[in-house]
Amino acid sequence: MNENEDHVIRHTSISRIFHWLMAACILTLLATGILPVLGVNFDWVEPHWIAGVALTLAVFIHIGRSLSPTKLKSMWISISDVREFIASGGHYKGGKYSLEQKLMHHGITFFSLVSLATGWLMLLKIDTPFWERDPFIFGAAVWGIIYVLHGISTLLFVSSVMMHIYFSLRPEKAPFLRSMFKGWITRQEFNDNHDPDRWDV
Ligand code: HEM
Ligand code: HEM
Repeated sequence: MNENEDHVIRHTSISRIFHWLMAACILTLLATGILPVLGVNFDWVEPHWIAGVALTLAVFIHIGRSLSPTKLKSMWISISDVREFIASGGHYKGGKYSLEQKLMHHGITFFSLVSLATGWLMLLKIDTPFWERDPFIFGAAVWGIIYVLHGISTLLFVSSVMMHIYFSLRPEKAPFLRSMFKGWITRQEFNDNHDPDRWDV
């Protein structure tokens, strides 16, 4: 709770900054990676890899900040989450994050980690301020696999990000959207959507 009795803090200012920072990195990566394929020609390599390096740093710090039992538990998908979701047809009160939000988080985590890991390997093929290129570090077959993984994770990423943005802009999700800007939801919104035994504020 903050000074206003009616407000329940959902995201601290640092969490919100990280959400928007990671979102900016990912949208930059998707735009610089995909627009050239669609025929919009510009010097995309440098902004693309710089956003990739920035996202890597942000993700490491985000993981470091998440390493508390309470926080990990709030994002963990348990068997009872799935059981109750099915039994109630999706209308049950969850903890801090709903099952859908946890699935979105884990999907985005998986695609980020695959594209970041393959992206870092691809970075070895270009000159950066840190090293000179070495295209022969892997054989053609291994490069093939790296490129395919990078491409597939990007494509799946585009649909999950579109879904994420679509749902966060829907009217019934307005309290969550507000909480990603201002940090809080109202006590009423808390009571409507959350089980106090599962999210201890
Ligand atoms: C193994 C990797 C990761 C772990 C262990 C992890 C863990 C967590 C946890 C425990 C939370 C809940 C924090 C809370 O609400 O207090 C969270 C929230 C969140 N995560 Fe992750 N995460 C990982 C990767 C990622 C990646 C790759 C992204 C985005 C590219 C991401 C974006 C977010 C966002 C936007 C939130 C909600 C805002 C926040 O609470 O910070 N996470 N994560
Ligand atoms: C215009 C763009 C975006 C909007 C409007 C938006 C909105 C939001 C909102 C409102 C939440 C908070 C939900 C809550 O309080 O539980 C959230 C969470 C989160 N966002 Fe975004 N976001 C955007 C872009 C992105 C991008 C590009 C990524 C990374 C690919 C991302 C990753 C996440 C993750 C992993 C979470 C936590 C899981 C969840 O709550 O669904 N967001 N976003």
